[in-house]
Amino acid sequence: MTIGQSKTRKVVIIGTGFVGSSYAYALLNQGTVNELVLIDLDKDRAEGEARDLNHGMPFGAPMRIRAGDYEECTDADMVVITAGANQAPGETRLDLAAKNAKIMTGIVNSIMDTEFKGILLVATNPVDVLSHVALEVSGLPKERVIGSGTILDTARFRYLLSEYYQVDSRNVHAYIIGEHGDSELPVWSHVQIGGVPLSKYGNIPDVQQDENMRTIFENVRDAAYHIIERKGATYYGIGLGLARLTRAILYNENSIVTVSTLFEGQYGVEGVYLGVPAVVNEYGVREVLELDLNEQESKQLHESAKILKEMTENVLP
Ligand code: LAC
Repeated sequence: MTIGQSKTRKVVIIGTGFVGSSYAYALLNQGTVNELVLIDLDKDRAEGEARDLNHGMPFGAPMRIRAGDYEECTDADMVVITAGANQAPGETRLDLAAKNAKIMTGIVNSIMDTEFKGILLVATNPVDVLSHVALEVSGLPKERVIGSGTILDTARFRYLLSEYYQVDSRNVHAYIIGEHGDSELPVWSHVQIGGVPLSKYGNIPDVQQDENMRTIFENVRDAAYHIIERKGATYYGIGLGLARLTRAILYNENSIVTVSTLFEGQYGVEGVYLGVPAVVNEYGVREVLELDLNEQESKQLHESAKILKEMTENVLP
């Protein structure tokens, strides 16, 4: 590499609402990128967010942040899509599918018109369905079209287990897989507290039937509803999750995170985007990890896949 040609770390964010701006704030705080472009239908909003973030630069990390237009996607390493209608109180993520599929189609066409060749990260809900729409519309290789999936659900799961057992959440190993939504499922058979299986650490003979563990999972699954009822939307958790994924990609970390990716026979599931532990690096999704699910987990995953497949078929262009 010749002097001065440092690796670019350019990210374009489409949508500077609560999620997009929280994600941008996380990137500034963590110094993950060196170039950040904000795009929104509301150009004043994008410009205002860029100025507000730039004024925090002395407290964050040096990077170039600006509002812009789609031509900025041409040389971007990543484009992250957060734009779309949000869940209203009581609305499910799947209720948003038709409306947001149209918005997603328009956005991805605008991105691909710039000959974008990087990695597409989708956060707009229903994220599994819309990641599949983004794959079909973009024509990009499937490993380069990634949904935020159950990365936040898995974080919620680890956090609630860490609170219950009073251990550092970074030492709780647990996955939520399937739909980022009502049909998601906990992989109880693989939950470990610092390497000790949950059944042993918690002295729980049958984890899947344990009332306390059931409550923890229900609080994970319904977390967004409870937050939306109280503050109208969720954005810090998903913003930090998107920043985590951005670091894994731009720094080629080969991290294992539960993203939404296209299943091509793994777990006996075909032709649908779902959240699953996968190795993520600068080329996108390197591989899907196949956990040995027990009978109930496998049944639940197939139920989730069926729901998502039907919804996706209804909205694919
Ligand atoms: C949530 C949104 C990101 O689960 O779907 O908070």
